[in-house]
Amino acid sequence: MMFKSLTSRSTCAACSLAVVLSLSSWLWPPDRTSSEVVAADKDNQELLDPAAWGKDHVGLEVPEYIEGGECLFCHRNDVGASWGTDPHNHTIHEANEDHPAMRALRSKASTSPIAKEVELILGDRRQSCFLKYTGEYGKLALLTVRADKRRGRRFRLSGDVANPGWLTEKFADRCAGCHATGVDGSDRTFITVGHDCYVCHGDAPLDHANEPELMPLSTARKDAPRVVVSICAQCHIRFGRSRSTKLPYANNFVAGDNLFRDFEADFDKADDPNISPADRHVMENVRDVVLHDNKELTCLSCHDVHGNSTAKHDKLPDGPSCVTCHDPGQSKKSHRMYEVHSVLCGY
Ligand code: HEC
Ligand code: HEC
Ligand code: HEC
Ligand code: HEC
Ligand code: HEC
Ligand code: HEC
Repeated sequence: MMFKSLTSRSTCAACSLAVVLSLSSWLWPPDRTSSEVVAADKDNQELLDPAAWGKDHVGLEVPEYIEGGECLFCHRNDVGASWGTDPHNHTIHEANEDHPAMRALRSKASTSPIAKEVELILGDRRQSCFLKYTGEYGKLALLTVRADKRRGRRFRLSGDVANPGWLTEKFADRCAGCHATGVDGSDRTFITVGHDCYVCHGDAPLDHANEPELMPLSTARKDAPRVVVSICAQCHIRFGRSRSTKLPYANNFVAGDNLFRDFEADFDKADDPNISPADRHVMENVRDVVLHDNKELTCLSCHDVHGNSTAKHDKLPDGPSCVTCHDPGQSKKSHRMYEVHSVLCGY
């Protein structure tokens, strides 16, 4: 799908539109303007230009954000309890000797010696990758062997099991933007392994304690749906790329930005039956919000992120977004079973 911004303003209706535009830039949350309508889809529904609103941080320095430990000093009761086991916080974690993936790595003669070098593990719900610090600032090396989860808590090794080795650039080139925090697009270094609060709440000022609306995703602020899906889509669209860096992850995205000014992705993938419902329902929701201006449904209508739960989705009215996982006309008690794979992540 291609988009062109409207550039010519020949009629007087357009002159007054320009005035409305300059006024609307004072409003928060930013609302759509008719100049963003660029095309129509096959059903003659209006399509918006996903890049037409908001700002980005391409080419700027990564902000000096407040780190999670400091946030949790005040938020230990509301968020602290679930943060320890949050899959975002946990995406990269220390390589505990007793981790079943570590046991699998020690169990083979060819991989046992290199197991001593492993410092961190990425993932463990479906697959674990092994990592170590390279000694260079903000860089990790990725092992050419991985451990795939089998039944129970058993893991089986895959990859270059006979001859394991460390890749020193791959994590920076292909992974960092979605599995680490504060990644600098120019040298591909990160500030913190795993996800800090910053990836979703952005560069929030401490004054938010008195003015919660300064904080992205706070209830007081009522972020526009496209602001919300930009935050989640920066990592959950796993087949796009940054125009400026050509890397498969966003360039210096800060919560509040419009992801699609610099990040391009094929929205038609939402209809691709070869993609698992896990990735497809994400793209469907993003497309509905950023192209079709749907204001009814975002990731947060169904996902309670800190509660790590989708219980609230059970209470939604039936609609087109349900059929990715539930057969139309059938009871919601049954849902499609699916496996999740990703070419980008390599599992
Ligand atoms: C565009 C963002 C993005 C990039 C780049 C990316 N990942 Fe991921 N990765 C994700 C997301 C999002 C998930 C979780 C998807 C889900 O659970 O449905 C994930 C999941 C994983 C998992 C599964 C974790 C588990 O608990 O089972 C592994 C392993 C993984 N990624 C490894 C990698 C590696 C290695 C790279 C680089 C070669 C990489 N990823 C690059 C976004 C990304
Ligand atoms: C993966 C994205 C993500 C990360 C990472 C994240 N948050 Fe949140 N947070 C959210 C979302 C989304 C909401 C809004 C909840 C809603 O509206 O459903 C939220 C809400 C909150 C709230 C409001 C109270 C509540 O429980 O709803 C606080 C406080 C908060 N986050 C603090 C933090 C802190 C502190 C960290 C880091 C330790 C953090 N968050 C990391 C996404 C995130
Ligand atoms: C000095 C204490 C303090 C620190 C540090 C702090 N907060 Fe807050 N935060 C507050 C107070 C007080 C409120 C307003 C009362 C409330 O809603 O909990 C608040 C509100 C919020 C909200 C909105 C809650 C809602 O009702 O929707 C979010 C989200 C949030 N903080 C996230 C963070 C994040 C992320 C960090 C770290 C970057 C952080 N806070 C650091 C004290 C703090
Ligand atoms: C900085 C990247 C990043 C951002 C931003 C992000 N996620 Fe994630 N998310 C991930 C990765 C990576 C995983 C997989 C973690 C793992 O298993 O290693 C994940 C896992 C999840 C899961 C799967 C949990 C499970 O147990 O199956 C859900 C649901 C999710 N994210 C929703 C969201 C929502 C909603 C937002 C926006 C508020 C969001 N994420 C923002 C990267 C991100
Ligand atoms: C209509 C409700 C709905 C919407 C909208 C929605 N989700 Fe989901 N999502 C679900 C449900 C239900 C599950 C399945 C949970 C389960 O398997 O128990 C799920 C699963 C996931 C998973 C885990 C997939 C896996 O198995 O690895 C991720 C990641 C995720 N959603 C991210 C998102 C993001 C990001 C958005 C917004 C762009 C979003 N979702 C929008 C309902 C929704
Ligand atoms: C990403 C996949 C996904 C999407 C999209 C999705 N669901 Fe679900 N749904 C599930 C899964 C998995 C379960 C079982 C676990 C649970 O209850 O969360 C489920 C369970 C349910 C249940 C509970 C059934 C029961 O009684 O056990 C209801 C009701 C439901 N979904 C309604 C909906 C509606 C309405 C929509 C659309 C607005 C929707 N779902 C979209 C995956 C999905």
